[in-house]
Amino acid sequence: MKALLLVGSPRLGRSASETLGGYLLEQLAVRGAETEKQYIYPALKSGEKLDALISAVARANLVILAAPLYVGSLPAAVIKFLETLAQRLGAYERPDGQQFLAISNCGFPEAHHNNLALEIYRRFAYEVGFAWAGGMAMGAGEAIKGRPLAESGGMARNVIAAFDLAAAALIEGKPVPQEAQDLIARPLMPAWLYRFMGNLGWYLQARQYGTLWKLRTRAL
Ligand SMILES: Cc1cc2nc3c(=O)[nH]c(=O)nc-3n(C[C@H](O)[C@H](O)[C@H](O)COP(=O)(O)O)c2cc1C
Repeated sequence: MKALLLVGSPRLGRSASETLGGYLLEQLAVRGAETEKQYIYPALKSGEKLDALISAVARANLVILAAPLYVGSLPAAVIKFLETLAQRLGAYERPDGQQFLAISNCGFPEAHHNNLALEIYRRFAYEVGFAWAGGMAMGAGEAIKGRPLAESGGMARNVIAAFDLAAAALIEGKPVPQEAQDLIARPLMPAWLYRFMGNLGWYLQARQYGTLWKLRTRAL
């Protein structure tokens, strides 16, 4: 099986999307898949890279798209890329039964904010002739971004269990079981603790940049 991870975050090499998709890709590799990781943002800036990315999608048996939630929806660059795929994939020969899996993470603590984005991905998969392998939604993405899941300690245990289940199903050409989708959507930590840490992060950054007393400034 050829599995392709498309990372749809502009934070190259340090995003939650890459942490999540990267772990799943590793689990697929352990189970014998041939794996490849590509970034969407840089590909949109170069015709050559975009052509290479589209042909990588056309060759893959499983396409995994991992992206953040932006304003309750998909990042504009991801929308642009999916529209391009929809226009151009018809010109390529593709393996039978190509699967498409979406992983969406958001900054709010609750995973359900990603539901609309997952529906959009599912519609895309249907329109472009992919079998829908499922949608995996996670909240509190800022808590795990940029480092391997194994280094996030206990709070990542459900996420790891979810991807282990997902990899076992995907390698057999099956969709991700509901149990895996439910596990990844569980809160990483109590919402109050995530908000507390988030606020603390803002205050520390403001102190670092000398803007502590300007935090509530608004443009008139
Ligand atoms: C422009 C922008 C819009 C965002 N909109 C939302 C949103 O509507 N809901 C939400 O929960 N998080 C939102 N976020 C937060 C990101 O989804 C969150 O930080 C996520 O973990 C980033 O994932 P990444 O590291 O893979 O890029 C937004 C972030 C940015 C930069």
